[in-house]
Amino acid sequence: MKPRILIVDDDQGTLASLSRAFALEGLETLTASSAARALERLQTEPVDAILSDVVMPGMDGLELLARLREQAPGVPVVLMSGQATLETAVKATRLGALDFVEKPVGLDRLLLTLRNALRASRLERENRELKSYWQDELALIGESAPMVALRALIEKAAPAHVPILILGENGTGKELVARAVHELSTRAERPFVRMNCASVPTELVESELFGHEKGAFTGAAGQRKGRFEQADGGTLFLDEIGDMAPAMQAKVLRFLQDGELTRVGGAGEIRVDVRVISATNRDLEALLAEGRFREDLYYRINTLTLRTPALREHAADVPALVAHFAEAAARRNLWKPRRFAPEALELLKRQPWKGNVRELRNVVERALILCAGDPISAEELRLALPAALPARPGQVPTEGALRDVVDAFERDVIRERLRATSGHVTAAAKSLDLERSHLYKKCKQLGIDIREEG
Ligand SMILES: Nc1ncnc2c1ncn2[C@@H]1O[C@H](COP(=O)(O)OP(=O)(O)OP(=O)(O)O)[C@@H](O)[C@H]1O
Ligand SMILES: [Mg+2]
Repeated sequence: MKPRILIVDDDQGTLASLSRAFALEGLETLTASSAARALERLQTEPVDAILSDVVMPGMDGLELLARLREQAPGVPVVLMSGQATLETAVKATRLGALDFVEKPVGLDRLLLTLRNALRASRLERENRELKSYWQDELALIGESAPMVALRALIEKAAPAHVPILILGENGTGKELVARAVHELSTRAERPFVRMNCASVPTELVESELFGHEKGAFTGAAGQRKGRFEQADGGTLFLDEIGDMAPAMQAKVLRFLQDGELTRVGGAGEIRVDVRVISATNRDLEALLAEGRFREDLYYRINTLTLRTPALREHAADVPALVAHFAEAAARRNLWKPRRFAPEALELLKRQPWKGNVRELRNVVERALILCAGDPISAEELRLALPAALPARPGQVPTEGALRDVVDAFERDVIRERLRATSGHVTAAAKSLDLERSHLYKKCKQLGIDIREEG
């Protein structure tokens, strides 16, 4: 993609001549004949660098620069002026201008400055992306005892060249742990290759694991490296290992025993050095007992076992996780960062979280879309919780006849629907999946006055 430069100048002649010169240098240019117009264009058209005149009617270049620090903080700005004073130059630098050039500008000097600006902009962006990737996608959040213990174990396990088995329910961060181990190991600079063991079709197992030579079978148009070879020097993450088909178990075991492989259709053996990390949410011991998972393979893959705790076992981490996901979503979507009210966090802490951290992340992202408040209140948040979750978790009545308790609950639900539909009985009945007449009967039975609701 061509780098894109925005030129801001009130003089049409300058805009035209600079655009032409930049185009010849392979740069794409946008122009704006005033600072206000420049800010407007930037709202919808991102650029890699900005070149602006200082003296312009209305907003001048220095004020534009100050505004840009807020609106487009990562974009380098070069100022140019025909009436340059030392004072303006100093002010420009203080406001964060990358460079200051005098008019009439020598094209060579200007281009050099711009190239520098673009390099700075690219580096800055790459840095930011890398940082936000680390921050948003790879951070293992949580200061509760189980999380602290898990992190300590990761740090111990990472440098050792031994296979690791990660056990834990769905969405508890097994893949995150595998990546953390890799990143903290001496193999961090080498590849991390993930393979989902549950989804490899039987007939492709061998070529998927070990690769194939050109023409080894119909469809093998070129030579291809298998997962083990791709991960050479690095880490191979065998995900969902509990769902690995028996034929594949045998092949993986053979490789783990001698560290050598032969590509399908190939002749020689290839030595490959990989560290294997496996993960599953299945009960491997039970699978062993049922004979569905090979014992010899089991002992090969789990020199060390790490367990990711279910979220309900470290609900104390919910607020930190919520803040983390909310901030990451805001950064990703360029939303204004928002918070959750203390009661909303309490409500979240009490959920059963069958889908663990992944489910929490989804709820947080859904809430940021559906709820308008800042902070988001507990009432609003209820709307974003999956319907399957009880309306008032943790508030299961400890006394009272079942009939009364259930009646009270039904009364609440029906009242809420009537309110939501402004007392429109047909709509409320539809949302409850009841016949209209049935809803009337229910209301009478439960003592709900339809006219009063809504
Ligand atoms: N402790 C944590 N801190 C921050 N994010 C987490 C944490 N645990 C899990 N996540 C996030 O939850 C989501 C699910 O994590 P991950 O994919 O690692 O889970 P998993 O155990 O591999 O799940 P599955 O068994 O369904 O494959 C990811 O978005 C991950 O970033
Ligand atoms: Mg996973």
